[in-house]
Amino acid sequence: MASYILALDQGTTSSRAVLFDQHGAMVGSAQHPIRQIFPQSGWVEHDPRELWQTQLSAAREVLAQCRVSASQVRAIGVTNQRETTVLWDRATGLPLMNAIVWQDRRTADYCGQLRELGYANLIAEKTGLVIDAYFSASKLRWMLDHVPGARQRASRGELAFGTVDSWLLYKLTGAHVTDASNASRTMLYNLHTQQWDPDLLALFDIPPSLLPALVDSSGVIGHSHAELFDAAIPIAAIAGDQQAATFGQACLQPGSSKNTIGTGSFLLMNTGSRPPASPHALLSTVGWCIEGHSTHLIEGSVFMAGATLQWMQQGLGLVQEIGQIEQLAMSVDDADGVVLVPAFSGLGAPHWDPYARGTILGLHRGTTRQHIARAALDGIAYQTVDVLRAIEAASGIPLRELRVDGGGARSNLLMQLLADALGIPVLRPANIETTALGIAQLAGLGAGFWSGLKEIESHWQADACFTPAISMDQRKRALAQWQEAVRRCANWANH
Ligand code: G3P
Repeated sequence: MASYILALDQGTTSSRAVLFDQHGAMVGSAQHPIRQIFPQSGWVEHDPRELWQTQLSAAREVLAQCRVSASQVRAIGVTNQRETTVLWDRATGLPLMNAIVWQDRRTADYCGQLRELGYANLIAEKTGLVIDAYFSASKLRWMLDHVPGARQRASRGELAFGTVDSWLLYKLTGAHVTDASNASRTMLYNLHTQQWDPDLLALFDIPPSLLPALVDSSGVIGHSHAELFDAAIPIAAIAGDQQAATFGQACLQPGSSKNTIGTGSFLLMNTGSRPPASPHALLSTVGWCIEGHSTHLIEGSVFMAGATLQWMQQGLGLVQEIGQIEQLAMSVDDADGVVLVPAFSGLGAPHWDPYARGTILGLHRGTTRQHIARAALDGIAYQTVDVLRAIEAASGIPLRELRVDGGGARSNLLMQLLADALGIPVLRPANIETTALGIAQLAGLGAGFWSGLKEIESHWQADACFTPAISMDQRKRALAQWQEAVRRCANWANH
């Protein structure tokens, strides 16, 4: 009987389950959307029970759809939206409040104070991160300070903290664990000792008893509870979604890079076995840890990419379906001077401005929704240019091509705009679900389903290559206008 690997991909906007066969080919998928909860301006929450329920339903559905029994699943891999913070009661398994999502800015002022107090270098040195509300530490501290009784209960060891991987693993197996790729996004993990850092726990006032145990990204961690599926299935991988996508794009050698365009947009470059030296305005992060050996990455994280299109559909009501935005944008030659900076949740790399806000500049009486749609796609592409230039400067490696995946990679127009803006070829793989593929590969390696990295690399196949089609002058002019628009939206929420 054929065997499979099941990838669980709990993302910001949906929970997906994807089944892969022995050749690394996708045989089926199921998906459920996630409710986005916005209690105040700048706050974003998810209901952890919904994250779990939608993930479990998606997993059961894909198995039923493909007529695959649990005993045919050699391993499950779990990948997830990173940094999003969950706090739950160890005895009841119930969350104390909604998860605070990575996009949430409620701790921006506190992070500003830490910067003013001069902690930026210490934190960058230990964790590879820039002080920002993006990461889990300030979110967890906020929970302990604001949920009545949480601090006392935490100090009695009654509570557990986890990013979404930990939460799902706990629900799947009862184990309280995470891996280095997720831990390195909390601001509590020391890249050099590869352990939770006692100084940072003291700084953020976080009791160590809250923390999950650290395990490898690939290798059997435990088995799913018997009642979840019709047999217990080994769980053989955990990794943050962007790191899993880097693996799935076969960026296994130093210097290779990928950009995932999903809710946000995340450009990561493999830097080998050691953390890169002070990647200015970028993040140094663990890619995956296999048999105790970590592979490190430089990352430029952009908070709003595909989510900009979701806002245009749901917030603005500009179109009925997101796919129509590409059609609108295609019906004009260019944005006719309109620039859209998608700083809805502030700006991430390389600007790191939590108070920047979304901006549309250059409107005139002839501006149409077509131009605004085009400017939104341009904005997604231009943000990537800023990050790519910063990564090249930090690594000293000029990029010759970029592999792109995620939902945004479906748009031929966006891929062409990206190639035009970057001035290098953009490669789209045949399977753009590289996050799911990457975690399936890590699970397949961990469970002995695949023999090694050579076999894994053979799963990657190109679908299309987009080459730059504008002149250097056109690119220069467009990017200068973009830079000016970014400058104008800076610090807006503080005005
Ligand atoms: O750091 C946040 C990132 O992991 C979210 O990814 O795919 O849910 O947009 P995604």
